[in-house]
Amino acid sequence: MTGLFNVKSVEETWEVAKAFAKDLKPGDVVCLEGDLGAGKTTFTQGLAAALGVSGRVTSPTFCIVQEHQGEKLLVHMDLYRLHSEEDVEAIGWEDYLSRGAVMVVEWPERAGSLIPPEAYHVVFRYGEGEEGRHITVFN
Ligand SMILES: Nc1ncnc2c1ncn2[C@@H]1O[C@H](COP(=O)(O)OP(=O)(O)O)[C@@H](O)[C@H]1O
Ligand SMILES: [Mg+2]
Repeated sequence: MTGLFNVKSVEETWEVAKAFAKDLKPGDVVCLEGDLGAGKTTFTQGLAAALGVSGRVTSPTFCIVQEHQGEKLLVHMDLYRLHSEEDVEAIGWEDYLSRGAVMVVEWPERAGSLIPPEAYHVVFRYGEGEEGRHITVFN
């Protein structure tokens, strides 16, 4: 699924995530780009629900990586606090890539050239009103 989605609420962001999740296979990498508060973690909650994860999905800003086992394994990373590709490699990036998880990455800019060329990209921009967001999905 690719395209531009103009959403008006958190619930609509979850719906876009659920529709997108139908395409996902083990090993896929999904890069979530956009400012703080733009909706990256919220989108991941919708993905997790669609992948059959029952636990709560919170921001992994401080622990960097959280794993959620649903029907598929979801690895959720937030690289915000890392500063270089070296830092990203040091958390075991390559091992995570080879685990066959659906890997969702917030702040993928930190990983630079480590991001596989076939990764999906989802870009979040603020829209109209408090809950308006523009979500662009491409790969
Ligand atoms: N349409 C929307 N989509 C996603 N989040 C929204 C939306 N409207 C309002 N919000 C709010 O914006 C915040 C987004 O936070 P979060 O998903 O953690 O962002 P990020 O991970 O990009 O920093 C949440 O407090 C959420 O309730
Ligand atoms: Mg976040």
